[in-house]
Amino acid sequence: MDRYALIGHPVAHSKSPSIHAAFAAQTGEAMTYERILAPLDGFVDTVRDFIAAGGRGMNVTVPFKLEAFALADHLSPRAQAAGAVNTLSFRADGIHGDNTDGVGVVRDLIANLDCPLAGRRVLLLGAGGAARGAIQPLIEAAPRALHIANRTAAKAVELAGEFDGLAGAVPLTASGFDDLGIAAFEIIINATSASLSAAAPAIPDTVYAPGALAYDMMYGAEPTAFLIAASTAGAARVADGLGMLIEQAAESFLIWRGVRPDTAPVLAAQRATLAGG
Ligand code: ATR
Repeated sequence: MDRYALIGHPVAHSKSPSIHAAFAAQTGEAMTYERILAPLDGFVDTVRDFIAAGGRGMNVTVPFKLEAFALADHLSPRAQAAGAVNTLSFRADGIHGDNTDGVGVVRDLIANLDCPLAGRRVLLLGAGGAARGAIQPLIEAAPRALHIANRTAAKAVELAGEFDGLAGAVPLTASGFDDLGIAAFEIIINATSASLSAAAPAIPDTVYAPGALAYDMMYGAEPTAFLIAASTAGAARVADGLGMLIEQAAESFLIWRGVRPDTAPVLAAQRATLAGG
């Protein structure tokens, strides 16, 4: 059995083991996927122990994604753009680092929510790690424009500046929430951590174009504060980040096993568990 694991602190409530177990059962891959709680000062040692014990790959979660980035001998272009690693593969030529978070949100939008990005105006809220990881995959989906807005305007402007060279034909702009004016967008993605404290980013109601989809990278049994505020402000559709979680896992599974699982039944099962528990 090939061994994989999630490493983080905390990891106890992660859904990743059950998601990967479902993928493995569906595809017939002979593998195990466990949770590993690393001490806050012991990330690298814990990874090395897992490799020594025959581990083949790891997902990395809070607070170790930057340490995983630093540890990798080889980085994918999207890990490089994200500046963080959530997927490690242990191969003969060293440790490979990738980042599947951003592609997870884009796939969730396009494949699960039937919400194409091409030609649409996209507003990305936040300028931390979650926002950073999404920028390159969003640009690759060829929106009509991508605007990054953050509570602290300077951080949004700095982040957009870092991606100038990658944006190509996609207009990439940035501002604070207060400077959004009356600009309207078809897709509004919350990549702030506001929902963790049951708060919604203070953006104008006018950001929601007719038919707009509001998307929160966070999820829970109940709609997040952002999704409630978005509905009230006129968003036509809302979606939380459970699908992103499943899609980033599927992309990691593909990297490790070379086979892409069918995410639809796994997403439906996780949604049912979330609603029931
Ligand atoms: P993460 O890795 O989850 O992105 P982070 O790097 O700490 O976490 O970034 C948190 C992001 O959420 C930031 O963009 C932060 O805005 P500021 O740069 O202005 O601090 C944003 N954020 C957190 N709480 C928020 C709130 N209540 N309203 C709006 N934005 C919030």
